[in-house]
Amino acid sequence: MPRFYITTPIYYVNDLPHIGHAYSTVTADVLARYHKLFGEEVRLLTGVDEHGQKVEQAAAKRGLSPQAHCDEMQENWRKIWLELGIEYDVFFRTTDAFHKKAVQDCLQELWDKGEIYAEDYEGLYSVSEEIFYTEKDLVDGKTPQGNEVVPIKEKNYFFRMSRYQKELIAHIEKNPDFVQPDFRRNEVLGFLRQPLHDLCISRPKARLAWGIEIPFDKDYVTYVWFDALLNYATGMGYQQKERAQEFQTWWVDTPPVHLIGKDILTTHAVYWPTMLMALGVPLPKTIFGHGWWLAADGGKMSKSKGNAVKPLDLKDIVGVDSLRYFLIRDIALGNDSTFAPELVVSRVNADLANNLGNLLARVTNLVDKNFEGAAPALPSPLAPETTSLFQSLEGLANRVREKIEALDPQGAVVQVVEVLNEANKYVGDRAPWKQVKTDLPAAAETLGACLEVLRVAGLLLTPVMPTKMQELLQSVGWTPKPNFADARKTRAIPVGAKVTKGDPLFPRVEWKSEP
Ligand code: MSP
Repeated sequence: MPRFYITTPIYYVNDLPHIGHAYSTVTADVLARYHKLFGEEVRLLTGVDEHGQKVEQAAAKRGLSPQAHCDEMQENWRKIWLELGIEYDVFFRTTDAFHKKAVQDCLQELWDKGEIYAEDYEGLYSVSEEIFYTEKDLVDGKTPQGNEVVPIKEKNYFFRMSRYQKELIAHIEKNPDFVQPDFRRNEVLGFLRQPLHDLCISRPKARLAWGIEIPFDKDYVTYVWFDALLNYATGMGYQQKERAQEFQTWWVDTPPVHLIGKDILTTHAVYWPTMLMALGVPLPKTIFGHGWWLAADGGKMSKSKGNAVKPLDLKDIVGVDSLRYFLIRDIALGNDSTFAPELVVSRVNADLANNLGNLLARVTNLVDKNFEGAAPALPSPLAPETTSLFQSLEGLANRVREKIEALDPQGAVVQVVEVLNEANKYVGDRAPWKQVKTDLPAAAETLGACLEVLRVAGLLLTPVMPTKMQELLQSVGWTPKPNFADARKTRAIPVGAKVTKGDPLFPRVEWKSEP
């Protein structure tokens, strides 16, 4: 059975999840669910990044020990993912004992191999980013992200990242899918045109105690990114003898797709592969840097803007599945897009209430009233316009699959929407509410064809809207567990299957923006 392994970033527990985090996780979940629909065995890993200064400071602010703080915070993350219908296989915590041990074993291995060395270091350090900068990296005395830096001098341990510069460039050039999208790949190659420095992978405990202790120097903990990046591999059994087979299956034989935000491209596309090279571990298949949701004014979405409704709370207004739909439909994976409650509401009303929901309501109501709720038989031959609708429906499943395999979930959804638009036009033209009075066989054809469109659309949108599409499939008389083979058929609903009209699947959302 083909396999698919996808990861989200593991999120800092200094804060609660917001719409940006939800976006990464929902997208990974949608991709994972599509691959399951295709009949593949899938692993989705998400989790939390618990060490480092940010988390230590957040804990101190609350008067808690870092561990107590993390134990509490991770519950919030799990809870939100549950509410958003995320079907993760692994919820990763970097404070888990097996991970800490595996990270220490990696450090020891690299130290023994001479891949790590000690040196006095003077640099400009950004506390909030946990990254050292040199003078030339700064913009107006601040980091490129606009954060403060402070000068620091201390002994530290360094990973010989510079050794792998050439090998990494060659790998990126030879494997066009390794860093995606293309413009991010160029960005990384551009970065690698400058000399690559070695990576500081330690923090003195005197300055930061909350981390994984360096096994060959008890006065230090490891840099939070060195610890965190390893999660993707340790989560599948790396550095754990008793899980060697699992690691073979879920890493070596199934290289992962790392879905990340564009903000953490360098750590993933430069630090991480060079760490793996030094450790002699195969590289991931793809690192995909997605874009950001921005506030309506083009700026970062920030809590200080005091939006009346927190973006993530929109799930309670439009519904979880509708919010998932918006997050996939309104952004091309890789690009930025605008987030505003009004945009969510208008998208949901247009695509889900008016297009999909309305088609479902019309068709099931007419079948209920005129065919005693039994799926009508399709005649043959079909009318030309029905044939043409079925022609669009025929290749739909494969088109969706191609888009998903190309990591284009928006494109996949748009394919389905186009066929739904066509079906709505078809219904409008054939007016089955009139046909039922004048020509019952023609009405049967119109309604039967639409039931098939709805069935296929329902199957193909299940990964995006698992709960709502389950309801839709039920109401068009389709009960088997969703699978791809059925989505490729165009005449599958058994004649006489029970079609039920229910409450509107996607009630129109009324929304008044704040004055
Ligand atoms: N802990 C690190 C990641 C370590 S992975 C080994 C981290 N955590 S984070 O909590 O700051 O999450 C950052 C991620 O959240 C981004 O990479 C992105 O995936 C997501 N987003 C945060 N804000 C976002 C938007 N406004 N829009 C889209 N995604 C954004 O970095």
